[in-house]
Amino acid sequence: MSKTLTKNITGEDLFKNVISHAKEYGFIFPSSEIYDGLSAVYDYGQLGIELKKNIREYWWKAMVQMNQNIVGIDAAIFMHPTTWKASGHIDAFNDPLIDNKDSKKRYRADVLIEDYVNKVLSKADKEIAKARERFGEAFDESQFKSTNARVIEYLAKADEINNRFKEAMDNNNLAEVKKIIEDLEIVCPLSGSKNWTEVRQFNLMFCTEMGSTAEGASTIYLRPETAQGIFVNFLNVQKSGRMKIPFGIAQTGKAFRNEIVARQFIFRMREFEQMEMQFFVRPGEELKWYEHWKEARMKWHLSLGFGASKYRYHDHLKLAHYANAACDIEFDFPFGFKELEGIHSRTDFDLRSHEQYSGKKLQYFDPEINQSYVPYVVETSVGLDRLFLAILSSAYQEQELEDGSTRVVLNIPPILAPYKVAILPLTKKDGLPEKAEMIRNDLKFDFNCQYDEKDAIGKRYRRQDAIGTPFCITVDHQSLEDDTVTIRYRETMIQERVSISKLTAILQSELSIKKLLGEGV
Ligand code: GAP
Repeated sequence: MSKTLTKNITGEDLFKNVISHAKEYGFIFPSSEIYDGLSAVYDYGQLGIELKKNIREYWWKAMVQMNQNIVGIDAAIFMHPTTWKASGHIDAFNDPLIDNKDSKKRYRADVLIEDYVNKVLSKADKEIAKARERFGEAFDESQFKSTNARVIEYLAKADEINNRFKEAMDNNNLAEVKKIIEDLEIVCPLSGSKNWTEVRQFNLMFCTEMGSTAEGASTIYLRPETAQGIFVNFLNVQKSGRMKIPFGIAQTGKAFRNEIVARQFIFRMREFEQMEMQFFVRPGEELKWYEHWKEARMKWHLSLGFGASKYRYHDHLKLAHYANAACDIEFDFPFGFKELEGIHSRTDFDLRSHEQYSGKKLQYFDPEINQSYVPYVVETSVGLDRLFLAILSSAYQEQELEDGSTRVVLNIPPILAPYKVAILPLTKKDGLPEKAEMIRNDLKFDFNCQYDEKDAIGKRYRRQDAIGTPFCITVDHQSLEDDTVTIRYRETMIQERVSISKLTAILQSELSIKKLLGEGV
């Protein structure tokens, strides 16, 4: 194996490189770019769509195929408008906004406060890191946190701000939210001034009209989450599928939010895709299932192989109007730890509310306890685009190779890679392209293949590395004599000579979902 040196690119630099790589190789383009784009809306290109489809499928297999008691649906984006009254989105799906009078820039008040708290916490983290370096093996983090005066002060300050903000929001006290911003002396990042407007609530749902005005058009909403399509179909699925509690309904699909602070590429978009699962359980058992799904979802993320240090749980201080427990699985994006997935114990809020607004019973008769009840729900909800960004930014590496050359490589888990295999004839003559074409025609039924005969072989390997193709098959003159080829592994760049007849079996074993998911995910 040749020695490689992976450059240590992090933060802003890494993020910039990932964004330009995504565009250069056809993963992601700004939407309607010829018209200068549309803010916080993106298109997936020819490679992006493959990666996105593979992530979706990996999730679907883990949630639906591997669980006897979980089934999927695909509900429409448009739903009866009363859905959103019942779900609470019309009244409560708001962000607290504040404008800076000098820069005329609009901000989410909670984000300004959260950023401030993160700065305080990162000061504590720095102290902890310094101490870890000083004490080495003997370092006891929890003891240090509870005894070091500066760390205690930072953590207490963060707690105090969080609690004050939570109380203000719980009481819908927007004047107090503004006061917190003033007391913390938070300035506008653009103008540097503290000249703020009042804080006010802004509803995030997009709405449109269904039907012509003459007929009496009605206002309908683009769904801000896919979950409600599952709730309104709860009884349809339970009855037609003869489902017994506990059981789950999964769905992937588009959701729309008129995000105010839309930034950080595909992290926060106005049109995005969610992968959600609602797990219906007996009342009183929801916290047990909440813990179960918290653990199962973390295991699923870890199966991608980016390492445990990339993930952490964040328990919610401020619970949404429907939840009695909630946490995020956060991921270490190039711009720091941020929410990747939410796990929420939503109680019976949604089903009960839909019962009330529709006048239809949404109950389950539980033969084991001989009782009818409105089930409680534990939800897992992950953003497909966010997951895409997490994978792309962790997989992106720039390496210096032993021979002094460099390569950009996407170490995407092979099962998610857009192309699984590239078939490369060493030269464009002597019957090598024909042999390579034959191999492609055989493999293409099982694997997404690329065929490439342009340029020197080294250059072609680099092209495949840059798009994350895990295996390159090279057809050379020996292939014509003994029906063997070389297979090159993206991460190690090791090449092995193998029989053409064994290729399918080798690739199938390398791309086995069983290997990744294993037991219990
Ligand atoms: N049904 C619950 C729900 O929608 P959420 O925490 O608002 O909960 C779930 O969203 C997930 O959807 C988030 O963890 C995130 O991954 C993704 N998500 C939310 N808003 C998003 C946005 N504007 N752009 C991209 N992904 C988003």
